Amino acid sequence: MNRSTLKRKKIGVLMGGRSSERAVSLKSGRAIYEALKSLNYRVVPVDAGRDLCSILRRKQISYAFIALHGGYGENGAVQGLLEILGIPYTGSGILASALAMDKEASKKIFISQGIPVPPFKVVYRSAVMDRNSGRSFMMKLRTGFAMPWVIKPAAEGSSVGVVIVRNRGQIKKALEAAFQYDDRIIIEKYIPGKEIHIGILNNAVLGGVEVRPSLEFYSYEAKYTSGLTEYILPPVLDRKSYALSKRLALASHKALQCSGATRVDLRVNNRGNPFVLEVNTIPGMTETSLLPKIAKQAGIEFSDLLEKILEGAFYGQ
Ligand SMILES: Nc1ncnc2c1ncn2[C@@H]1O[C@H](COP(=O)(O)OP(=O)(O)O)[C@@H](O)[C@H]1O
Ligand SMILES: [Mg+2]
Repeated sequence: MNRSTLKRKKIGVLMGGRSSERAVSLKSGRAIYEALKSLNYRVVPVDAGRDLCSILRRKQISYAFIALHGGYGENGAVQGLLEILGIPYTGSGILASALAMDKEASKKIFISQGIPVPPFKVVYRSAVMDRNSGRSFMMKLRTGFAMPWVIKPAAEGSSVGVVIVRNRGQIKKALEAAFQYDDRIIIEKYIPGKEIHIGILNNAVLGGVEVRPSLEFYSYEAKYTSGLTEYILPPVLDRKSYALSKRLALASHKALQCSGATRVDLRVNNRGNPFVLEVNTIPGMTETSLLPKIAKQAGIEFSDLLEKILEGAFYGQ
């Protein structure tokens, strides 16, 4: 749909919601709302709570810009609701959203496509909880790969519940932290080296950013406290590994059948080999978020990026 037709639509910017990333989502949503408003779009901020369906009807929203992170907003549930209501929406469809949100499902698809991922093991709460002595459980926990490990909930974001474990004494606490958010967690081999995020827009690579946190890893705090992380555009990588990272990022986006704007997180080891961590189907969207930074480096200003995302909106069935 072209920009002049879009300007006649009533666009709901869906933000907030009920996930652990509510606060971040409100910031993305606010930035999108302000930018679209100043471009003369008819925008309405919508806090996506339990009453989302009735708000969308009452406010007669005919187009949705989804700025929800985590939970229902990113896992396909809100996308399903919008399809039932016949409201076109930005970003990925139901299946791609669900697959990308689930780190176990997405890793399995990446592997089937020959996309390298760190060695990992999936652990269910039920397999752990019956054994109440932490010690006997830990003796049974075998991953088949050396420490350090990264323990993370299977379906969270923003590094919520992610802990790095460097010795066996740290396992129990890390498992408890991750199990606070999910009944299923992933134990992954820690990949030393660099962290690279690649931005993708409408099935093309925009570019990448190297993320250098001053903390142990790119934790929630390192992500959202200004000054704690250094961002380098483009990443300081040799040409071959950067080219490979970009290729793998696009392959990951396509493997999950994503659309619109995504951001793919990768680790690149000391030998220059990239490993895909995940695809974010609703990347942070404040003006200083990573995808907008990458777009800007590629010559696409924030407002232009938003309009390109809107133009690529998904129509549902
Ligand atoms: N296998 C790994 N090796 C090294 N660091 C990792 C690994 N997995 C995760 N991390 C660190 O944890 C952060 C969050 O992990 P990620 O898988 O991207 O989950 P989230 O959805 O919470 O962003 C990453 O940005 C990275 O800094
Ligand atoms: Mg991530």
